[in-house]
Formats: sequence, structure tokens, C-alpha cells
Amino acid sequence: MPNKNATLTIADQSVSLPLVEGTHGPGCIDIGGLYHDTGHFTFDAGFGATAACKSAITYIDGEKGVLMYRGYPIEQLAEQSNFLEVAYLLLEGELPSDAEMTKFEHDVTHHTMMHESVKNFLHGFHYDAHPMAMLCAAIASLSAFYHDTTDNEDPAQRKLAAIRLIAKMPTIAAAAYRYSIGWPIRYPRNNLEYVTRFLHMMFEVPSEPLELNPVVAKALDLLFILHADHEQNASTSTVRLVGSTGANPYASVAAGIAALWGPAHGGANEAVLKMLAEIGDAKHVEGAVARAKDKDSGFRLMGFGHRVYKNFDPRAKIIREMTHKVLDALGVNDPLLEVALKLEEAALKDDYFVERKLYPNVDFYSGIIYKALKIPTEMFTVMFAIARTAGWIAHWIEQHEMPGGRIYRPRQLYVGATPRDYVVLGKR
Ligand code: CMC
Repeated sequence: MPNKNATLTIADQSVSLPLVEGTHGPGCIDIGGLYHDTGHFTFDAGFGATAACKSAITYIDGEKGVLMYRGYPIEQLAEQSNFLEVAYLLLEGELPSDAEMTKFEHDVTHHTMMHESVKNFLHGFHYDAHPMAMLCAAIASLSAFYHDTTDNEDPAQRKLAAIRLIAKMPTIAAAAYRYSIGWPIRYPRNNLEYVTRFLHMMFEVPSEPLELNPVVAKALDLLFILHADHEQNASTSTVRLVGSTGANPYASVAAGIAALWGPAHGGANEAVLKMLAEIGDAKHVEGAVARAKDKDSGFRLMGFGHRVYKNFDPRAKIIREMTHKVLDALGVNDPLLEVALKLEEAALKDDYFVERKLYPNVDFYSGIIYKALKIPTEMFTVMFAIARTAGWIAHWIEQHEMPGGRIYRPRQLYVGATPRDYVVLGKR
């Protein structure tokens, strides 16, 4: 019988800590009783080695570059599935039967409209508001419209909130974009499937029909699959943290959108494109790499590095391959792709990046494809949010279904002033 405990020795005190095994991948040392038993916390800035919850949704092996949703390798899903089926898989844990898929598609399709007052709400923004700001606020506002889905204890309400979020996110995202360019909002056309419907809401004008190259919808669907979930990343952890307080699903997901916006996370795809445009020409790549290595420059290569992947990001591999196909199929000759490829080549053979295992991540190539699909730069992170909504709400539901859930409440290593007495004003 193998030892199911780890022993920790602090000075002359030894404590036995239970080992907990998952179904796949590294197990954990359960330190839940550590403070009670020893008076010590653990210190793990940025949670590099801390599992904050149990989850059965997504598995990552960062050393080997493996990503699986509910046990299915991302490569297989990318090749054979579609975004809405992946959303179902994330939510329900199993691939749907024909009847289940038809019902799910029907449910999502019939919740695509947004309340007319949400439109008015968006119109309160200044025309140059960033669409992520509009999306975040509008999604938070949904709890004020749908009181029938804010009882977190009711499984049917949780499910309906999930459907609403997945259904309305593209509608609100497209509306935010159109408002920013002064176009009338386009209502969802429910005879179209999820991604094509979104593209119509983005690009169709009232005066003429939209001719959509099917390559565009296919590429966007694939990007949505790749972005749909990524275990306990910063935005999903934010959704869970907010969710752990008992906050409603719309407020929890709005918090996830806010977390996603940062350039270290989902905002990287927008930042990559800006960086490539700033570099401008393949001949300036060497200088950019040198600047990224200089810690005083404050500049990092956006789209490089990952907290978990210390090998090629499997999503980046798929997108890299797709980038060439999409650009060829659309007849796009983007000089930024040349800059990107040169940058990738230079970084992959540079000792600084090799030693630190900094590989291109999912955001490095996605921006180039979004650009080829004519998605405006400031909408890149919004695209990520639409896809990640499936993962966020799957995690939020899992958190409410799994027994033993507690409020997320980390501790700290205090480094402030030691105890001192208050001195009244005039005597300081
Ligand atoms: N360019 C230059 N140096 C880098 C980079 C980079 N992109 N990323 C990490 N480093 C260096 C960093 O300076 C540090 O060096 P040293 O050991 O000498 O101090 C070392 O590599 C480790 O970096 P870290 O900041 O401790 O790593 P982390 O795990 O905390 O951060 C990261 C991960 C993704 C935030 C970071 O790599 C980064 O800022 N990358 C650029 C932003 C980006 O592309 N983000 C998208 C992530 S993937 C999609 C998503 O999550 O949304």
C-alpha cells in the first residue's frame, strides 16, 4: 500500500499531510489543515503550484503540450467538432446525441435576442468606448433583466443562465462593435448557425446582402473551439472567485470578462497585432527581440510565454497551420505575417527564450487570422470572450454542483508596518 501522506517538517515539528489523487496528471498535497496544525500559511505568489479547486472539465499537461476538454484531445475536437457542440461538451460532460444537440442548438438559437433596453444601455456609451468595456458592463447588467435566473441553487435556472450567456454574448458583442462605428444594430437571424449568425450581426448592412466566404465562418468556429476553455486560467479563476461568494452568473461572467481584458491574458491578441504593426518590417525583428530581453525596456514579446505551457501551446500549433490556409483561401497577403514568422524564428533560436521555455502562445497567431477575417483589432479580445463564455459558465455551474464548495479567500504574507500607536494630528 503506497504512502498516502506527505510529511512536512518545520523546526522540530513534523506534520503529516494527505495526498489527494485526481484521475490524470499530478496529484496534490492537501494543505487545508496546515495553518491549524502548524500556524503557517503556504506562499505561492501567482498560484504557480496551487490547485484551488477540483474540476472535471479541462486537462492541461504544460510540459507535453497537451490540452483536453472532458478527456477529448483538442486536436480531435478542432478537426471534427464545432463550437456549439464543444460548448455542450464543456457544460454537460459528454458529447451530445443527435437529439440532445438539436435541442441545445434550438435553445441557444431562441435566446439570441437581447432585451431592447440593453441596446439603450449600450447607447449610453461614448462612441469611442472600447467594446470590452461595453461587453463587460452589458453582461453585468443582464442580472437586472433576467431575475428568473439568479437563484444559484436551482439547477434549471443555472442551465437557463448558461444558455442565455452563450446565446446573447455574440449579439451584444456585435452590437457594441456596430455602435462604435455608427452602424445600426443588426438583430440575430435565427435561420443561421451560431458563428455565421454572429458574422452577419457584425458585417451585414441594411442596404445590401452580405456575401460571406464559408472559409471565414469555418476559421472563426475553429478559433472559438480553441478558446472555449483553459482550466483555471486568470479569467476562469475570477469567475469562480466571484461565483464562490454566491454572486449571480451574469455578475460572475462579467468579472471574467474584466480579467480577460488584460494584456497578460486575453488582451494579448490585440497587443500582438499592435506590436507587429509597430515592428512594421522583418528587418526590425532583431531589435524587437533585443528589447524584449532587456528587463529595463518594460517590453515583452506579446504572444510569447505561458504560465503552464513549457512546450509549444497545442492551440498555437493548430492556429499556426490554419493561418496559412486561411490567408491563402482568402487571397490575403499580409506583410505582418512575414514579421510574425521572422519574430517566431528569431525567438525560437534565441537562448533567452529557449532557456525560459517561451514559445508562441494561442494569441500569437490568432490576431493575424482575425485581421484576415476583417475583425477589427479592438474586437480581438471580444472574440476570445465569446468563446470563453462556454468555459466560464461550465466552471461556474460545476462549482455550484460540486460538494464542498467554499468562498475563495486566500491568505497573505504580511510585509507591512509592525504594531504601533496612533498619534493625533498636530503631534505627528
Ligand atoms: N517576453 C520576454 N520575456 C518574457 C516573456 C515575454 N513574452 N514572458 C516571460 N518572460 C520572461 C520573464 O521576464 C521572466 O524572466 P526572468 O526569469 O529572467 O525573470 C521569465 O520569462 C518568466 O516569466 P514570468 O512573468 O514569471 O512568467 P509567468 O508565468 O508569470 O507569465 C505570461 C506568463 C503569459 C503572463 C508571460 O509569459 C507574458 O507576459 N507573456 C506575454 C503576454 C501574453 O502573450 N499573454 C497571453 C498568454 S496565453 C493566452 C491567455 O492566457 O489568454
